Amino acid sequence: MIREWVSLKPHNSFRIDANAAFFTEISSTADLLRLMDTAIFLEQPRYILGGGSNTLFTQDFPGLIMKIRIPGIRVLSENDREVILQTGAGVNWDDLVHHTIDRGWGGLENLSMIPGETGAAPIQNIGAYGVELDSVFVSLDALDLKTGELTRFDREMCRFGYRDSIFKRDLKGKFLITAVTLRLSKQHRLHLEYGNLKEVLKADGITDPDIRHIGSAVRKIRSSKLPDPAVTGNAGSFFKNPVITQDQFLKLSETHPGIPSYPAGNQIKIPAAWLIDQCGLKGKRLGDAGVHERHALILVNHGKATGRDILDLADTIRAEVLDRFGITLEPEVNLV
Ligand code: EPU
Repeated sequence: MIREWVSLKPHNSFRIDANAAFFTEISSTADLLRLMDTAIFLEQPRYILGGGSNTLFTQDFPGLIMKIRIPGIRVLSENDREVILQTGAGVNWDDLVHHTIDRGWGGLENLSMIPGETGAAPIQNIGAYGVELDSVFVSLDALDLKTGELTRFDREMCRFGYRDSIFKRDLKGKFLITAVTLRLSKQHRLHLEYGNLKEVLKADGITDPDIRHIGSAVRKIRSSKLPDPAVTGNAGSFFKNPVITQDQFLKLSETHPGIPSYPAGNQIKIPAAWLIDQCGLKGKRLGDAGVHERHALILVNHGKATGRDILDLADTIRAEVLDRFGITLEPEVNLV
């Protein structure tokens, strides 16, 4: 069923009150194939929406929003060492993380509490606390929105990068992901290197952590510094962490000796949060659009901000960071 002029407020974590000219929910491949025969699908601009936790609606959407609801978590195969799990694109990501940790399957614990749905996870190769989706990914199934053909993409075909994949580039809007297949381990390799993960575990008296402890520690860290979208509208990190050349980095370190950095291949990644923080923008507000008080990379909606308000604030931040550091910040959030 296609509904007309639907508020998107319940469907985006920024809680922006924009409307969609047309809105439909997709619970199966069959639903999608039926939709593809309709005039609205064929004639209107389209946008595929998962949990709406990485999207900023900057205005009313003039076409068709396709909200993904495809359910299901199923074991495709397993042995003593690993489990191959196929998950419907509409499964809430964190429900999936709980499901796997509860069964002792490792791989997703560092990715605890990331908002959004499973089908969106490969699009931006979600990552947190030293792990990216890429590392557990086997394949995904996606429907070609032109031909209706179901295609399987393996890891190589997805061309994963830092918050990046082919679905953000050459294939943007061309395929609809219906299911994602992951490889999880029964013999765990823990990732404790990132940030203060080790300290948090230690402070809780955990000396020999398992995946459950890591999941809880990540939840604790995230809750302490990231605003809960159910309370304050936001879409996580608004910008990507910029990657610069060694030369650029050396020059910047001369003028800014304390600048934090992480290796990124033969380049250097700088935390965008630090750049924004240095500009004194933490807590800054333009009307109801604000920079979160506890984390400079998170833009928040204090109530009645429009998408345009958030964008204006983002532009102000980009201009200040460019002026001060000569670095252009790129949005991590999809602007629609
Ligand atoms: N920092 C500041 N000021 C702040 C916050 C952070 O200076 O207000 C500096 C600190 O030096 C800190 C560094 O920035 O050590 C990094 O901060 P943090 O560990 O919070 O990570 P991040 O780089 O800001 C990235 C991801 C997050 C992910 C965390 C943890 C991106 C764009 N963001 O944030 O992902 O949860 O690492 O792994 O890569 C998201 O994508 O929506 C997201 C929340």
